[in-house]
Amino acid sequence: MQIFICKNDKEIGDKVSSEILKLVEKKPAAVLGLATGSSPLGTYTALVIKAKQQGVSFHQVTTFNLDEYLDCSDPKQTYHVFMAEHVFNALDFDAKKLNFPSLENLSSYDEMIAKAGGVDLQLLGIGVNGHVGFNEPGTPNDSLTHIITLSATTRRSNSRFFKDNLDLVPKQAVSEGLATIANSKHIIMIADDLTKQTAIHHLLYGHGDPNVPATALLHHPNFDLYLTKELYEAAK
Ligand code: GLP
Repeated sequence: MQIFICKNDKEIGDKVSSEILKLVEKKPAAVLGLATGSSPLGTYTALVIKAKQQGVSFHQVTTFNLDEYLDCSDPKQTYHVFMAEHVFNALDFDAKKLNFPSLENLSSYDEMIAKAGGVDLQLLGIGVNGHVGFNEPGTPNDSLTHIITLSATTRRSNSRFFKDNLDLVPKQAVSEGLATIANSKHIIMIADDLTKQTAIHHLLYGHGDPNVPATALLHHPNFDLYLTKELYEAAK
């Protein structure tokens, strides 16, 4: 794991968006693994601005999103909508090349990724309890795309997107598994919020621990962790 300590989330967004652009310029038909949530937001904002300025096309790019809620009470909070608003509608993506896990493609999602050539660059956030995608504590390291029941911690944390009303937060999701994520050629994880301090501490000093799912990636040969200085200082 390589650690990049940045001044603030703006600097993270700037650096990570440059990594994505560098890849797409070198490989116009790259396969991107994409994440939602507040962590990658700065990266997406910078990516859209710079791709437009530099005239980089995403038309040949294939994307695989990590996860999606099941039975989402508020359609505006689905990850489909998040991605459309913050990334897909702003650039020249080809709608036919944008993939999300769902009940329909659950058993073929990993095969779809493999057929596309595998994920070149996987963006990741991390949950307060160390989840990646929606792989909650206890998820086996060899898991592929699956249905998951969200933990109480995750539902409480995500209630901020559902009027702080826990009853409105979905109870289940479809998520790529830990093995799906670990199969990516390059992983970039972003963490910029102090609520992630304990989870990041485990990544900095821990060993593979099924109670902290992100530690399943510790042995990945090309895993970059981008942190704000404030979070790094609090977590170390
Ligand atoms: C959600 C998503 C994860 C995301 C995590 C952290 O539950 N399923 O993919 O990484 O929460 O979100 P945020 O970046 O908003 O803190």
